[in-house]
Amino acid sequence: MKRHLVSAADLSRDDALLILDTAEELAQLSGRAVKKLPTLRGRTVVNLFFEDSTRTKTSFEVAEKRLSADVINFSAKGSSVSKGESLKDTALTLQAMGADAVVIRHHASGAPARLAQSDWLHGSVINAGDGTHEHPTQALLDAFTMRRHLNPGAGQDLAGRRVTIVGDVLHSRVARSNVHLLNTLGAQVTFVAPPTLLPIGIENWPCEVSYDLDSVLPKTDSLMMLRVQRERMNAAFFPTEREYSRRYGMNGRRMAQLPDHAIVMHPGPMVRGMEITAEVADSPRCTAIEQVANGVSVRMAVLYLLLGGAVFADAPTDTPRTDSVETAQ
Ligand code: NCD
Repeated sequence: MKRHLVSAADLSRDDALLILDTAEELAQLSGRAVKKLPTLRGRTVVNLFFEDSTRTKTSFEVAEKRLSADVINFSAKGSSVSKGESLKDTALTLQAMGADAVVIRHHASGAPARLAQSDWLHGSVINAGDGTHEHPTQALLDAFTMRRHLNPGAGQDLAGRRVTIVGDVLHSRVARSNVHLLNTLGAQVTFVAPPTLLPIGIENWPCEVSYDLDSVLPKTDSLMMLRVQRERMNAAFFPTEREYSRRYGMNGRRMAQLPDHAIVMHPGPMVRGMEITAEVADSPRCTAIEQVANGVSVRMAVLYLLLGGAVFADAPTDTPRTDSVETAQ
């Protein structure tokens, strides 16, 4: 069994479906008056955030609390990291306090992998976004949302579904994790972006590339808009915002070109008027808020499976531990 979740590429199809199916069961909890399970009672989970976050951080915290874990929130601002303390010393400190899992967001690509490979921490490491590298729980909540709309039902994957991902792919850990997971689940991925916002070597990724959003829309089941990540840019990647929006922004006219069943996704934070107009963001086809709610269920499932001692990779996947989900209520 794998102890960590660092990359979406580490998940087999069975692992991914187990997480999605477990998340479906746990989602039922959010409709109840008392939204708690005792599953992680007595376990300590540390949220170690070196980068800003609204959705991911609160979503992990809600997930941990719904599973009754003891939660410690650690942000670099206001900690000894701002005095120059290293990742290693921070990790050793958390280990000394008995952390059973560390959820880490870091500006450096590879920081969660470094923690997972080290002997600084004995618990599980969950990547909540590292630099421009990966954001596996975002890809899982995106897949969960797509499955609900496009191919609902336990055990179902996304085979043959066409997913178009638009915008700043170069700086997007969401795009990287999505391309891995969507391929594992059988979907076809097309990236649409200005050439300057596509990574070198994209031709070796398991996806297609287009520079013409309008031509791809009618063949899209799920359209995922990405924010332009200015905080990761040190040069001009496109002439003007207006030019970017005109070619790569989602608006009402373009939404009308999508098939009726298609959804518009966004991981947040949205920059209205840039990659998405208010008309699209506020339309019933936009799943941005639904994705946030689904994020709680998916993160509960990940924590439950990693810390609850089930079943990634080499254990049989036909017996998810739903027994304890049910009996623990
Ligand atoms: C994304 C991230 O931080 O990578 N947001 C998120 O986690 N929901 C995308 C972004 O910041 O644009």
